[in-house]
Amino acid sequence: MSKNKSIDTAEAESFFDERKNMSRRTFLRVASASVGALALGNASMSLAARRTGVAMRYPLHIPPTVSPEGFGLSAAPVTVDLGGGKFSAALAYNKSLPGPTFRANRGDLASIQLTNGLEEETTVHWHGMIVPPNADGHPRDAVAPRGGQYLYEFPISQRACLNWYHPHPHMLTGKQVALGLAGAFILNDAEETALGLPSGTYEIPLIVRDASLDNGGNLQYTPKSGGFLGNIPLVNGTLNPKLDVDKALYRFRVLNGANARIFGLALSSGSQFILIGNDGGLLESPVSVSQIDISPGERLDILVDFRSLSVGTRVMLRDLREGWDLLEFVVASNIGVAGSIPTGTLSTIPKLTNPITTRAFSFDGMSRINGKVYDMNRIDFRVPFGQTELWSFTTKGNAPHPVHVHGASFQVQSRTGGRGAIFPWERGWKDTVLLEDGETVNVLIRFDGYRGLYLIHCHKLEHEDMGMMSNFEVV
Ligand code: C2O
Ligand code: CU
Repeated sequence: MSKNKSIDTAEAESFFDERKNMSRRTFLRVASASVGALALGNASMSLAARRTGVAMRYPLHIPPTVSPEGFGLSAAPVTVDLGGGKFSAALAYNKSLPGPTFRANRGDLASIQLTNGLEEETTVHWHGMIVPPNADGHPRDAVAPRGGQYLYEFPISQRACLNWYHPHPHMLTGKQVALGLAGAFILNDAEETALGLPSGTYEIPLIVRDASLDNGGNLQYTPKSGGFLGNIPLVNGTLNPKLDVDKALYRFRVLNGANARIFGLALSSGSQFILIGNDGGLLESPVSVSQIDISPGERLDILVDFRSLSVGTRVMLRDLREGWDLLEFVVASNIGVAGSIPTGTLSTIPKLTNPITTRAFSFDGMSRINGKVYDMNRIDFRVPFGQTELWSFTTKGNAPHPVHVHGASFQVQSRTGGRGAIFPWERGWKDTVLLEDGETVNVLIRFDGYRGLYLIHCHKLEHEDMGMMSNFEVV
């Protein structure tokens, strides 16, 4: 293992040195545009911080909601306000960090035209959406820089859930996501609507990630082979965010949009989250939990109850792993909103059973699956359409490896070694599951959407970019 590791480390280091030089070149140009704005923003920030001695909190940014029917999406360098006039150079979809939130109903047809305004190639992957291979954002379908276009067209035929769109270009995913390209995609269906869950201003997407800023206050990507870890949290692209809430029940659609960081979410009040869903939509029934671990690419659907709190109460959404304050809720109005916490059955989830084949995937080193570094032109295995299989994920080191599969959702069956258990947020349908050192995680999976080329990879984006990814074909 140590031999493997040193080979991998050497590979990784040269890979990232090359990338670093590239990203500095493309990024400097963007950064210089925002220098004037920056000087202002930082000056007022440091004054305010000195005066109060505590972090200034800024209103949580909530990206605009759009329909995916006939939508024009651009990816381009921009300057964004991270909060309180702290401007940063970024790469963003439609000038928004995060990008606009797509909202669609089961049965709609998404038709999204990407224009690539970056200085390098990109693609858009609709993480969690079951789409035909040519709309999946596979790196082979790279869209040319400086104006290249690509039409992503797919029917929305899966159950209600929260998904994530982000770039997936060959070896550039980590950089483009870290610099800002990401957004939420919310699907609704009749089953979910019938539950009468909090909606409108009471249903809020929260894209949680970490970031690093350079001396000019600009988002900075400093990749490491063990995964990029930033030194500050951002929620919906906002630094030190706060959200004024009514005395109401809120539904938060949470997505871990970090390159490599796992968050351990909890509320400072000690109250529990009412967990109602995850990657693939609603769970069978709600579960109350006081702490939830969420790794890159995973999603959560949680209810938080502010109904009995008095005006002025502050509750912090915290990350227990790093000890970070992520988002402060301030009960700001006496507006009481009815709404009830669902009990009993939320959804009926048909269980996958009787796998016809077992496949083993070993996440080796920092850049390999089953000993192989990703090759865009090599198909590593073929999976029969419509048949249930058992996939077994293992690793001997360099975890965490959040394992993600394109083209289908799966059901987690067991975790042995390591943490040795399946957690409440891993029930139901998943497309990303966390693999820690020494663990074997078994899942059942069935591809009944489309035939063709899909990917399995580690969602620690630096591992993905270094090659911890495989092509497979559904036949
Ligand atoms: Cu969220 Cu293949 O990725
Ligand atoms: Cu990994």
